[in-house]
Amino acid sequence: TSSLKAAGAAHGLLVGCAVDTRALRADTAYAALVAEQASIVVAENAMKWGALHPARDTYDFEQADSLVAFAEGHRIKVRGHNLCWHRYVPEWVMRLSPGAQAKGVFVEHIERVAGRYAGRMHSWDVVNEAIEVKDGRADGMRVSPWLSLVGDDYIEVAFRAARAADPQALLTYNEYGIEGEDEASYRKRRAVLMLLRRLKARNVPVDAMGVQSHLSAGDASYGPGLRGFLKDMRELDLQVFLTEMDVNDRALPADVAVRDKAVAGVYGRYLDLVLADPAVTAVLTWGITDRYTWLNHEGSRKDQLSERALPFDVDYRGKEAFDATIDAI
Ligand code: XIL
Repeated sequence: TSSLKAAGAAHGLLVGCAVDTRALRADTAYAALVAEQASIVVAENAMKWGALHPARDTYDFEQADSLVAFAEGHRIKVRGHNLCWHRYVPEWVMRLSPGAQAKGVFVEHIERVAGRYAGRMHSWDVVNEAIEVKDGRADGMRVSPWLSLVGDDYIEVAFRAARAADPQALLTYNEYGIEGEDEASYRKRRAVLMLLRRLKARNVPVDAMGVQSHLSAGDASYGPGLRGFLKDMRELDLQVFLTEMDVNDRALPADVAVRDKAVAGVYGRYLDLVLADPAVTAVLTWGITDRYTWLNHEGSRKDQLSERALPFDVDYRGKEAFDATIDAI
């Protein structure tokens, strides 16, 4: 097979990537690669609060609209990311007074943004990364600005507002650090499961669980804990999307052949494990080419070499990770 989307289509699986909307316009080879490979895309940054809503009465939809137009032009589905996150909350929001005022702003943003693309989105990450078992509260809730601004029920408020604004999109709770077999992953999965059960018990409209899947080629161990979690999701009637997969290689030596083999090994083993569960209906990598990966900026390699975290290299050649992904699908 020559494309991720063709391999996925043969098995009823959407496959795609996060897109850098500026590169999409400036770099035609990159745009061609995305169009050739993806049946689903998501904006890496363009639909976040900081990008869309720079001031209280100012929205800027230019980048977000351009991605949706590109996707629709190529019959690619679009995920929205995200309507609520503790990071990249604009300064002006942090200065709102907690309670009714902040809640009004929160709901209005969700209505405006989800409403703009209503009927055209595959899914929305309504709430991103709300659980923190290390420094969070006893119930596992992260001490997010939204928790203080809107109140303890901010997650429920967000999902209900999103459903009202776009009844067709699959509403998703998205989380990281829940993939491994380590103690922290076990605790975090447990807290996420409790949260989802609470939401479902209150009839909050949640349709899917996003497992970010930022993995590492250094300490890869994925197994029964994650498999059990996928089963838990099925029992809650939730679909599962792998929303942000990549495999950092920063623990490995410089040798490219060694790194590519290790990264591909993680892609293969992880996808084999996860795709065995029918709950999983979409897989997205966080970027598609090593030319544009956030890993080169956040927690990058000490030797300053580019990470080899994605299916395609900096010159848009498919790597072993690409072959491993096709094989696993
Ligand atoms: C990252 C982007 O890739 C960066 O470009 C940006 O500077 C910070 O955000 N989890 C998420 C994503 O849910 O939104 C993050 O994206 C990566 C981690």
